[in-house]
Amino acid sequence: MSSVATAMTRRVPWRALAALAAAIPLAVMLVDGLREGLTVNPIQELTLRTGKVGLVLLVAALACTPLNALLGWRFTLSFRRDLGLYGFGYIALHLAIFALVDLGLDLDLIARTVLQKPFVIAGSAAFLLLLPLAITSTRGWQRRLGRRWKGLHRLFYIAMPLAVLHYAWLVKADLRPPLAYAVGVAVLLLLRVSAVRRLFGPRRRGVDYTART
Ligand code: HEM
Repeated sequence: MSSVATAMTRRVPWRALAALAAAIPLAVMLVDGLREGLTVNPIQELTLRTGKVGLVLLVAALACTPLNALLGWRFTLSFRRDLGLYGFGYIALHLAIFALVDLGLDLDLIARTVLQKPFVIAGSAAFLLLLPLAITSTRGWQRRLGRRWKGLHRLFYIAMPLAVLHYAWLVKADLRPPLAYAVGVAVLLLLRVSAVRRLFGPRRRGVDYTART
């Protein structure tokens, strides 16, 4: 990126824009809810919407580091963690709507539903892998865990394929959207392999793929 462009990107309040972008879908859901515009099955509609938005935000978080490494878009690192946390927040909401609102936290019913809908297992595994990352995302935890923090945060690379598997598994008709996410996530993960990155981008040594900014 040119020095003029770099100076301009420094002036943009990226973190506030990321917060705004993440808040808009939630606001739309609230407005639609108040206007009774959530289809005839509002619980299902909210489950689908929160799942979709959560996935988009998590993929966006995954894209930040490759964008910096390949295109020099360093500004993306300033809101990478925010995107991940907002994505996790939507998925926590997605889970709460499904388990609390839809199934009334009835453990028997939840167990039966999981047997009928095995895609829920992949989603739950992704959520459980993301949970420690969300908890330890603060600077305090990063300091406390030291080198182990990076290792722990590599769980993101396992959680994302599981999240896409969850989506692909549940779709009955048009497989193209989950396939597009699968290809996107695969490319973003492959770009973390230095040999692959060198094929596509400048030889930038020492790009830390898990570092906090
Ligand atoms: C990182 C974790 C997760 C991601 C990224 C995710 C994402 C998604 C996406 C994208 C959809 C489909 C939306 C659509 O078709 O428009 C979906 C549907 C669904 N998810 Fe998840 N999900 C996750 C975790 C979970 C968990 C933990 C549960 C429950 C324990 C869950 C339960 C469901 C259910 C029941 C549906 C289908 C609703 C229906 O077809 O009626 N998901 N999820």
